[in-house]
Amino acid sequence: MKEFEQTRAWLLEKGIGEADTGIVLGTGLDEILRHIDVIRSIPYSEIPHFPVSTVEFHKGHLIYGRFANTYLLVMHGRLHYYEGYSMQQIAFPIRIMKLLGIKRLFLSNAAGGVNLHLKKGDLVLIDDHLNLQGSNPLIGTNLPEFGPRFPDMSRPYDRALNNLLKEAAQLLAIPLQQGVYAAVNGPNLETRAEYRMLKLLGADIVGMSTVPEVITANHMGLPCAAISVVTDECDPDNLAPIDIGEIIAIAKKADQKLTRLLLSALQIAPVPHIEQT
Ligand code: HPA
Repeated sequence: MKEFEQTRAWLLEKGIGEADTGIVLGTGLDEILRHIDVIRSIPYSEIPHFPVSTVEFHKGHLIYGRFANTYLLVMHGRLHYYEGYSMQQIAFPIRIMKLLGIKRLFLSNAAGGVNLHLKKGDLVLIDDHLNLQGSNPLIGTNLPEFGPRFPDMSRPYDRALNNLLKEAAQLLAIPLQQGVYAAVNGPNLETRAEYRMLKLLGADIVGMSTVPEVITANHMGLPCAAISVVTDECDPDNLAPIDIGEIIAIAKKADQKLTRLLLSALQIAPVPHIEQT
């Protein structure tokens, strides 16, 4: 616990204060940063004990900001397992955000549409997930300060937060699908046989992130919600070679909708309220 406390104290000293809401932005999904008041932005590389990104294009910053009377901590630059971070390293910033007071966590990502009803550019509210990464951020000695040895995962995505996002989508007339997210390691995309397998397993979308952070949040009893942007349609019988340029362009375009949706949710409920279930 010592390094967690050191990092928290260092961040507070640098002007990062207590926050209500945490946000983890998917790669290329950073439009929201143009709409919030940024109070502090600190490179991950300067923060004690923070994992540092290996890939140039994931330059990471922890951002402390404000929007609609809510204080935010935003991770701009996601840590992926395929980059070589350990699962525990991926968990670290999520735990730090919790220690800085966040009461809820929103995550975004780009994902492939395994369910062929989903089209490029669709937004999908993640309702449940399949952890196919073969690892877990909670492996190792349990840290009881954060949560129990065997955390419950019967509802990993918070019902009240999901309802809030659905309400915002309705208000803005933005179509919001719902589905099961399968997390794979990557970094390669899937083979045709793998897309068939994912569909058989019950996945609607597939990506290389989010699940480790969601497991970490659930361990701490931190309510979370996640939205995927569908960037490619994974039809095994008609599979075109992947075009990363196109994936990034689609993510960028859909990011406008996603940003409006998140900002509207923050406006409807600036301060998280804990629903008794
Ligand atoms: N597979 C895995 N990850 C992804 C995909 C995909 O098809 N699209 C975007 N991220």
